[in-house]
Amino acid sequence: MDYVEVAVAKGRLVDSTLELFAEIGLVFPDYSPDSRKLFFTNEERQVRMVLVKSADVPTYVERGAVDMGIVGKDQLLESGAEVYELVDLGFGTCKMVVASPSTAYRRKPKPVVATKYPKIAQAYFRDKDQPIETITLHGSVELAPLAGLSDCIVDIVETGTTLKENGLYITEEIAALSARLVVNRASFKTKFHRLSGLVDQIQAVIDGRERQ
Ligand code: PRP
Repeated sequence: MDYVEVAVAKGRLVDSTLELFAEIGLVFPDYSPDSRKLFFTNEERQVRMVLVKSADVPTYVERGAVDMGIVGKDQLLESGAEVYELVDLGFGTCKMVVASPSTAYRRKPKPVVATKYPKIAQAYFRDKDQPIETITLHGSVELAPLAGLSDCIVDIVETGTTLKENGLYITEEIAALSARLVVNRASFKTKFHRLSGLVDQIQAVIDGRERQ
C-alpha cells in the first residue's frame, strides 16, 4: 500500500498539528523538535509526514508531491494554489492586517507597502482602487516603516506584541486566518477512502473541540 504523504508547515503550527494527529491515534515516534530530520513515518497507518517551510506547503500539495497539507490560510491565499481546502482546524488563529506608525500613508497617491505577502497586499488595495508599490521582504517586516523603507506593512498579527513593541498599530484588517487542512485534487480521487477517512476523523475532533 502507498503511503499517505502529509506536509506540515514548520514552525508555529507543528505542536498543534501533532496534538491533533495524536487525538486520532496518528503518532510519529521518530519525531523530535530538536531533530533536523524532515520526514517521519507511522508504519501502522502507512502515513508519512514531511515538515516543510510554510510557504512551500501549498506547492507540495498542489503538485501532488504530497497528498495532504496542514498550513495557514495566509499561505493559501498568497499562493493561490489549486487544492481542496477541507477543514478549518481552528488553531493558528491570527489576522492579516495593514499596520503603520500612522495613517499618513492614506493620503499618498501610491504608498509603499512592505510585506511577505505581495499578492494579498496587491489584491486588497486593488479592491479599494488604491495603487500601491509593494516591497517584498522575508521577515521582520515591522522594521520597514521604522527604517523608512515603506509607509506601512501588510502582515499577520497574532498576539500584537511585535507591532506594539515597534510602535506600529493596526490601521486596516484584511482577513481572519487559521490553519487549514488541504488535499491534492487528484489524490482525493485516487486515495479517496484513506484520505476521506483521515479528514473525517480530524473533522470530528475539531467539531468536538467546538462543542466544548
Ligand atoms: C510573524 C509576523 C509578525 C509576528 C506577529 O513573524 O510576520 O512579525 O509573527 O506575531 P505577534 O503578533 O504575536 O507578535 P514570524 O514570527 O513568523 O517571523 P518573521 O518576521 O521572521 O517571518
